Amino acid sequence: MPTSLAKIGKSFEKDLQGATDEKRLSDIRVKYLGKKGLLTSIRKSFRELSPEERPAAGKELNSVVSKLEKALEEKKSQMELEKGSSVEKGWIDVTLPGKRPPLGRKHPITQTWEEVTRIFMGLGFDVVEGPEVELDYYNFEALNIPKDHPARDMQDTFYVTEEVLLRTHTSPVQIRAMENHPPPISIISPGKVYRCDADITHSPMFHQVEGLKVDKNISLADLKGVLEEFVHQYFGEDTKLRFRPSFFPFTEPSAEVDISCVMCDGMGCRVCGHSGWLEILGSGMVDPEVYRFVGYDPENWTGFAFGMGLERIAMLKYGIDDIRLFFENDHRFLEQF
Ligand code: PHE
Repeated sequence: MPTSLAKIGKSFEKDLQGATDEKRLSDIRVKYLGKKGLLTSIRKSFRELSPEERPAAGKELNSVVSKLEKALEEKKSQMELEKGSSVEKGWIDVTLPGKRPPLGRKHPITQTWEEVTRIFMGLGFDVVEGPEVELDYYNFEALNIPKDHPARDMQDTFYVTEEVLLRTHTSPVQIRAMENHPPPISIISPGKVYRCDADITHSPMFHQVEGLKVDKNISLADLKGVLEEFVHQYFGEDTKLRFRPSFFPFTEPSAEVDISCVMCDGMGCRVCGHSGWLEILGSGMVDPEVYRFVGYDPENWTGFAFGMGLERIAMLKYGIDDIRLFFENDHRFLEQF
């Protein structure tokens, strides 16, 4: 009897060692402890023992049964632990490469802003900024646009009060700069501007960069030279320029500048309306009237000014056909720059 119990114990240990999953474990339980299991059959054989022998044999058997049950339980929880994650097991492989956070990037308008200012700084212009909430005086009056001037209609102004507004262009910075600095002066001023207008080429908020240069003997040739250099650096050496007579109350003479179409190279396409040309900015020689507002002497000083939309030049350079894409913050769009 004890020999057979010892034998069973040995074979149980062997079986348990070989058990690799919970299915095998439950088979082992059935084999030894089940209704027809080995230990159960030994218990049944106790009938053949004398009443004096039975208690001792029963006690021994019970202790073997509970030993086996304990061993099975331990093996089971060991298996469960191995199945769980490394963190649950209480260790972590710190040598594994981590998850890289995706890198952010600069907004295309910020990139355009920086590129444009870099080019003009290379041409000797200083960068100055002015307020977005502006006085009517700086946005209109001092730029030779009196209250009843029809040019005010072109600008679809957001008014805060009768005298305070959101600036409709960056030109008021010209006035502020000239008020603060005697000539000569050579500045550009990038920034946000606001107009009550919204469609695929207009946004109620957009960006302009203003340029102003006043010195002795500045002529239209200087304006052309500076803008040509800018266009060649920004759009490429082969881009052609054309100056088209225009009107602005604060410049005289005034010109709008077109570049040869970046899509069709001047051949004519849908983007340039089959003209081969794209308008990119307004410009002109500073009107002597403006100098009177800031106390410059128009007999001694001459200068030029220009203003262009950053969204517009970025759209042309990158072939973007809807201005609203800049402001939707869709990563699929922004990641392309
Ligand atoms: N401020 C003008 C506009 O917004 C552009 C411009 C600037 C024209 C400077 C001439 C000189 O349309």
